[in-house]
Amino acid sequence: MTESSLYNFVLIAWVAAAALTIPYLLFVAAPYGRHARPGWGPTIDNRLGWILMELPSPLLVTALFFVGPHNGGAAAVFLGLWLFHYLHRSLIFPLRIRSGKKAMPAAIMGSAIFFNLINASMQGQWLFNLSGGYAAAWLLDWRFLAGAAIFFVGFAINYHSDGILRNLRRPGESGYRIPQGGLFRYVTCPNYLGEVIEWCGWALATWSLAGAAFAFWTIANLIPRALAHHRWYHKKFSDYPAARKAVIPGLL
Ligand SMILES: NC(=O)c1ccc[n+]([C@@H]2O[C@H](COP(=O)([O-])OP(=O)(O)OC[C@H]3O[C@@H](n4cnc5c(N)ncnc54)[C@H](OP(=O)(O)O)[C@@H]3O)[C@@H](O)[C@H]2O)c1
Repeated sequence: MTESSLYNFVLIAWVAAAALTIPYLLFVAAPYGRHARPGWGPTIDNRLGWILMELPSPLLVTALFFVGPHNGGAAAVFLGLWLFHYLHRSLIFPLRIRSGKKAMPAAIMGSAIFFNLINASMQGQWLFNLSGGYAAAWLLDWRFLAGAAIFFVGFAINYHSDGILRNLRRPGESGYRIPQGGLFRYVTCPNYLGEVIEWCGWALATWSLAGAAFAFWTIANLIPRALAHHRWYHKKFSDYPAARKAVIPGLL
């Protein structure tokens, strides 16, 4: 089996796993944050869990950049976009979390590490090896320009919405309030909407099946979770805004 046929085999299995994850997560909300519940084994400090589960992504893609045969041309820009997102997600976001003394199941952290190792390998192997390299001219192609713009719009929505959520609590608090303002006017989970937009932008900018697979995985993880959050808010707050959708303004 050649390297690229093995890669394609893993990619197909990876996309199939995402498709199977959707119905599972529609019935079983991943047990962290407001959906945490007993019965999922030992736990780890929430903040530390976020750092440990997200760090493999920037580390592995950076390593693949340095060992990859095609790290010239546009490669460093892709590495830069990846690190822009993941240094925020793995270090800045966890250090700013306000969740009191909450813990997450070690199993959630373990499954996220597994996800990040596979996903980062798929992205890095494609970008810096199997793609054959992206020439510097790719940075002026409409797919890169539109994709990068969408990526940053998604990041901004995600960042702004996570900031609104963080400010609902004072340091040390762990309760929940109804978020207001920004895109919360239209949807319960604009942070998830931003994340989905961001990785759709990445898929376009890289014009790759690996990028599309990551966008699909993000949808598979976050759309069912947004629906679970939405149901939870309606149960908990009798005055929850009735017109607000779960994740796609006006639609879902
Ligand atoms: N790419 C992917 O597949 C993927 C997967 C998962 C997460 N993410 C990203 O990681 C980030 C965090 O995800 P998450 O699932 O933890 O998001 P979340 O459920 O929206 O929570 C985000 C943070 O805000 C707090 N919070 C949420 N709603 C609140 C409310 N009504 N009142 C007070 N505090 C509230 C949460 O506290 P609690 O933890 O105490 O609930 C948590 O610290 C998001 O930006 C998400 O897009 C990406």
